[in-house]
Amino acid sequence: MKTSFPKKDIKIVLLEGIHQSAIEVFHDAGYTWIEHHDKALPRDELFKAIADAHIVGLRSRTQLDAEAIVQARRLLAVGCFCIGTNQVDLDQAHDRAVPVFNAPYSNTRSVAELVIAEAILLMRRVPERNAECHRGGWSKSADGSFEVRGKTLGIVGYGHIGTQVGVLAEALGMHVIYHDIEAKLALGNASAARDLDDLLARSDIVTLHVPATPQTAGMLGAAQIARIRHGAMLINASRGNVVDIDALAAALKSGQLAGAAVDVFPKEPKSRDEEFASPLREFDNVILTPHVGGSTQEAQLNIGTEVAAKLVRYSDNGSTLSAVNFPEVSLPEHPGSSRLLHIHHNVPGVLSRINDVFSQSGVNINGQHLQTDGKIGYVVIDVSASETQSEALREQLAAIPGTVRTRLLY
Ligand code: NAI
Repeated sequence: MKTSFPKKDIKIVLLEGIHQSAIEVFHDAGYTWIEHHDKALPRDELFKAIADAHIVGLRSRTQLDAEAIVQARRLLAVGCFCIGTNQVDLDQAHDRAVPVFNAPYSNTRSVAELVIAEAILLMRRVPERNAECHRGGWSKSADGSFEVRGKTLGIVGYGHIGTQVGVLAEALGMHVIYHDIEAKLALGNASAARDLDDLLARSDIVTLHVPATPQTAGMLGAAQIARIRHGAMLINASRGNVVDIDALAAALKSGQLAGAAVDVFPKEPKSRDEEFASPLREFDNVILTPHVGGSTQEAQLNIGTEVAAKLVRYSDNGSTLSAVNFPEVSLPEHPGSSRLLHIHHNVPGVLSRINDVFSQSGVNINGQHLQTDGKIGYVVIDVSASETQSEALREQLAAIPGTVRTRLLY
């Protein structure tokens, strides 16, 4: 498949040591002009690198703010090779018809595995025994140590991660119950708890996998923690503000909870140089990890593949499925047709002008797709036309008032 300019002329800038898997995806798709930087670039160097870039890939350290997006005059699409997209000015990108893609679920399995490992370690009292050994102690005892087999795991938030945790837990012989605000299909032998309180009362281990929403902020406060079965454990690898940390510390101190594993915190250090402060540091029976639930080599590889594939699909085919700031269109292949992409301000009259162009040209339209959001409209038209005819049509489309961008794929 060709685009209105050859793939070798499409410049891809990858920042912050994006995984090699991304480069392989671009190469396999025929893209060869790839500039790979191991680190985030200082602002002036960033501006230089992206000035003529068509595709920019970044992680969390590069700020692609409004000014940077304006500097990147040829920008077609942005790939956030991570979960979050706060580092990109999504509105500015949207207004300049630049879809932004990310990889929200590439690290699902990594989080699920950590949670299962923590469930086993907590049930065996490994965190305390480990800490004692480090201090020269030797508490060789089975006191308070249990297998996870036959125990009940309560999963709060039965989404991508929650369901994976459930499947792995069942493989270990655990009973799985879950609570979700949506009606969810139970996997395996899992069953829905009546409500959150029911789950808290029945679980030997409670694990949280909800998103950050106003509803989930502080959803495990002192009152909810008090409803957890005495001597149970709590795992939070979701978001830092879901659990009231002071209430958790109080429950650990009183023995209401026998242990906890926490990966995310209300306030996390911004860098390695900043000290990690938390009332949980004093407890040997708490596993503390620095927000690494999703941080594995496999997740990095998956993120590289997933985001690069989305960028290639947009560049080759026009599909915007799962773009975070753009009308989503999943497009079929278009063998034997030229594909014209027209992105315009969502104002009255543009569509009829587009249709006029085609009715006057006499070319056959094989397929048409339209998706709009509040501000922009995205029209994709497949036509039977020669390259020259298609390019002439693209020029006419580009001249329609309200047009933000046109592209031709053939
Ligand atoms: P998801 O969107 O697939 O699942 C979330 C589930 O929670 C959905 O089923 C939703 O209906 C449910 N939910 C929402 N509000 C709820 C409420 N008030 N009560 C009960 N259920 C509720 O999300 P995914 O991918 O499973 O991620 C879950 C969490 O894990 C997110 O907060 C995410 O930020 C976090 N995460 C943490 C990582 C880490 O490094 N520790 C890495 C990846 C994700």
